[in-house]
Parts: sequence; structure tokens; C-alpha cells
Amino acid sequence: MTDLTFDRRAMLKTAGAAAVGLSAIATAAAPRRKYVIVGMGSRSRMYLTAITKTYQDGNELVAICDTNPGRLETAAKFVAANLSKDGGVKPKKYLAADFDRMIKETKPDCVIVTCPDAYHDDYIVRALDAGCDCITEKPLTTTPEKAQRIADACKRNNRHVRVLFNYRYSPPRTQVKDLLMNGVIGDVLSVDFQWLLNTLHGADYFRRWHSQKAISGGLMIHKSTHHFDLVNWWLGSEPEVVQAYGKREYYTPKMAQRMGLKSHHERCHTCPEKDKCTFFLDITADKNFKELYFDNEKHDGYFRDQCVFRPEIDIEDTMNVIVKYRMGATLSYSLNAMNAWEGYNIAFNGTKGRIEHSIVEGGAVSAGATNYQADQDRERIRVIPLRGKPQDLEVWTGTGGHGGGDTVMLNEVFGKAEPDKYKRAADERSGFYSILIGAAANRCFETGAAVKISDLVTGLTSPVVAPMPTRDDPVPMPLRS
Ligand SMILES: NC(=O)c1ccc[n+]([C@@H]2O[C@H](COP(=O)([O-])OP(=O)(O)OC[C@H]3O[C@@H](n4cnc5c(N)ncnc54)[C@H](O)[C@@H]3O)[C@@H](O)[C@H]2O)c1
Repeated sequence: MTDLTFDRRAMLKTAGAAAVGLSAIATAAAPRRKYVIVGMGSRSRMYLTAITKTYQDGNELVAICDTNPGRLETAAKFVAANLSKDGGVKPKKYLAADFDRMIKETKPDCVIVTCPDAYHDDYIVRALDAGCDCITEKPLTTTPEKAQRIADACKRNNRHVRVLFNYRYSPPRTQVKDLLMNGVIGDVLSVDFQWLLNTLHGADYFRRWHSQKAISGGLMIHKSTHHFDLVNWWLGSEPEVVQAYGKREYYTPKMAQRMGLKSHHERCHTCPEKDKCTFFLDITADKNFKELYFDNEKHDGYFRDQCVFRPEIDIEDTMNVIVKYRMGATLSYSLNAMNAWEGYNIAFNGTKGRIEHSIVEGGAVSAGATNYQADQDRERIRVIPLRGKPQDLEVWTGTGGHGGGDTVMLNEVFGKAEPDKYKRAADERSGFYSILIGAAANRCFETGAAVKISDLVTGLTSPVVAPMPTRDDPVPMPLRS
């Protein structure tokens, strides 16, 4: 198996060769790769569109699956509106309880997992055991125990699971990787990383299933998986030891009262104080949003607009983490979900200088909530040589979701994969190291003691990484000042 979980073209070749014989391959149209998707919420839309529209030539959606029959219907309608003029096969609909039957009947090449985080492992393991490839949304999973199940299933089936870390593909983050790979600041000794969520986007995590640690793993898993993966990938190294502190002090019943509300309530839609509360989300204001969530509440009782001040919330809103890496670097990271702006600052301190990178993002929440936009979206990459002059670089740009990252990634997954010197295609090995920092941090929140990553899951192996500067490279003497 190569560094990619599976190579689409190689897969098609193999399937074609078995069916029609090698000599016919050159002339026969390549068979479409068959997918099923589990979890028909908002994130699935990106995959539905990619498979049934943008990349429909080589791909086919054979089935969709969800616990909520209403959302299955909503997804089916969305696909019908998307399908190209020449048809494409309408996907079959299956309830989650019929997942195994779906696999048997539709025989997919690949299962895509886009349901809530804590359920990923179950579908990943069943897909692998059924002989399918698997692509999962981040986070790979939510706990070390679930990670172990996935590790064991990968080993048992001699397969990797593709984890779509879309953040790696955003052009400015790829540019930072390029600078680090090229040794522009030598080898990295330490990293300072702050991620800020504002009170619109940040608050939204406290309304949804994300606010229950048993389902999302908390923000250390659900959100920080992106950030820890970025650092792991940027450094080309694996985390060894984690220390962390976390608390929830803003999204609390007490804060509702300090802001002048009588109390927290169940949800926005029926809130008696909606006129006074600026965290109010009108779930019926946006047509798509209403169709996806509000209209389907009757099937499973899930409210997408729960009060952000509910006492049952058990995730943190303020987190600080320190990580020691195998190659020697240390990371100091913070995540804060109630900030004045949205985005991040990161600095890499190297033997030849420092890279500072920041992005100010517009923190959007749909469904009619006031959509805060930063004065302008600001992206910055600055290189400062030791004792040298700072240089602001022109930042690489792209278009599409997540700063242009989604487009590049989808092209690689569903279109024509090109060799990638940055090694952005990630599998479960990167997925583990990313979520295990978060899992270790969650454990630190409870015990206060540092956690060794190697104590969490056994049999981990290293991800494939791009070559990076090493601790043995010569280092130029800094200029006299
Ligand atoms: N890469 C990214 O930037 C990004 C962005 C958003 C979401 N995500 C990930 O995508 C996944 C889905 O998030 P979302 O925002 O679409 O959530 P969502 O709440 O909009 O949708 C989740 C869907 O899963 C269904 N579901 C719930 N339990 C299920 C089960 N046991 N089996 C099958 N289906 C089940 C729900 O009915 C719903 O339709 C999550 O893992 C999330 O972390 C990734």
C-alpha cells in the first residue's frame, strides 16, 4: 500500500482488469466508482454535489443512509436537483439500522462517513470488514478506545482509511508548509498557535450535538483535530506528550443571568426571552436550514437551536494545551470559543528565523443570524530571519469552501489525483495523531496530569510525511547586529 489510502485510478484499473481483461482496458469506458454516504446533514452536501455533479464522470452515488428518514428524503431531493441531464443513477435510501443490508445490496467501492463524530468508528469498522474502502470526515473518531477499534480493523483488513483534512489544502497553509519544507527558517524549535472562534460561530457549537462530549469529543476533538493535524503535518512529526487545562466559563446558565436574562431555556424557537437574547438563532429563517433540521425534528427530536447557556452542556469553551513532539519541537496552543474575532495566529520559531501567519475569518452561521464579517478578510505570512529584516509574502490564494481548500481536496479525491510533494492526502495514521492530542487534553482536563500519546492506543505507525529540515542540518551563524 502506498502513502495514499487508495489510488482511484489504480482501483478502477484493478476492477476493470478483473472484469474485462487487461487488453480491453484501453478502449472500454472506465467503470464509475460506487459510493454510499452515511449521515445526510450539512457536510454531506459537499460530497453529494461532488459525486453527482462535479465529478460524476468517474463516480456514482449508489446509496445514502441516515438515522432520520426525513433528512434522507431531503438529501434525495437535493441529489435529484443536482443530477446531470444524462441521468446518473438515483441513490437508494437506507435507514442507519439497515447499513449492512445497504452494503450487501449496493456493493459500494467506498463508504463515506459524514455522521456525528462519535459514530464514525462504527461505520468505518463495518465498511472495512465488508471489504470496502472508507473515507471519513474529521475527526477520525472521538476517544482512544474507538481509535483502537479502527486501528485494529485497519490492520485486520490491511487497508487504510482516508481522512479528509481539508484545512491542509487551503493555499496559505500549503504555502506555510512549503516555506517550512524549504528550510526558510531552518528547523522548528517551537510553535505558538492561537485559534479564536467568535461569539457567532463559536456559540454555534454550544447549540448542536457538538455540545455533548459523548458525541463530539468536545472542541479539543471536534474542532482542534483540524489544528493539531495542521501542526503535525507542518512539522512532519508526531506528538509524544500533552499537558492541558480547559474550562467552560462563558456558555453557562450563570452567564445568561449576568447578561440580563432570567434564565437559560431549552431552545431558541420557543424561547420566552428571544427578543432580549442576541444568541437567538431563527431556525426557520433560511429555507435550506429549515428543511434540513426544523422540518425533520419530528422524526428524532433533535433541536439544532438549543440554548447556548444550557446546564447540560459538558464541553469546554476555553482551552490551553502544550505538546512535545518527537522531533523535539514544542507547541503552545489555545482555543477560545467566545472571542472578539474569528481566525488564528501562528508563529514558528526556527533555527534561522520565524514565520508568522494569521488569518482573520468571517465567522458565519446561517439561518438568518447576524453574519459578522471582519472588516476585510485578512491573510498574512511574514518571514523574519534571525537579526534580519521582516518580509511580508504575497499569500497564495484559492476559491471555494474553507479558503479554497475544499476544491483542491475534492479534485484530488474524486477527480484526477496528481503527485503531491506536500503529502496532503491523509489517512488514519494522521487521524489518530490529531485526535489523540485532543483525547489526551480531555484526559488532562480531568486529572491535571500530563498524558503520553503512546499510552492511549497500541500499534500506531507513522504517517507518510514530506521530507523536512532536520536537527542535524548546518545552521548559519546569525548576522552581527
Ligand atoms: N471538514 C470540515 O470542515 C467539516 C465541516 C462540517 C462538519 N464536518 C464533519 O462532518 C460530520 C457531519 O457534520 P454535520 O455538520 O453535517 O452535522 P449535521 O448535524 O448537519 O448532520 C449529521 C447527520 O447525521 C445523521 N446521524 C446522526 N446519527 C447518526 C447515526 N448514528 N448514523 C447515521 N447517521 C446519523 C443526522 O440525522 C444528520 O442527518 C461531522 O463528523 C463533522 O465533524 C466537517
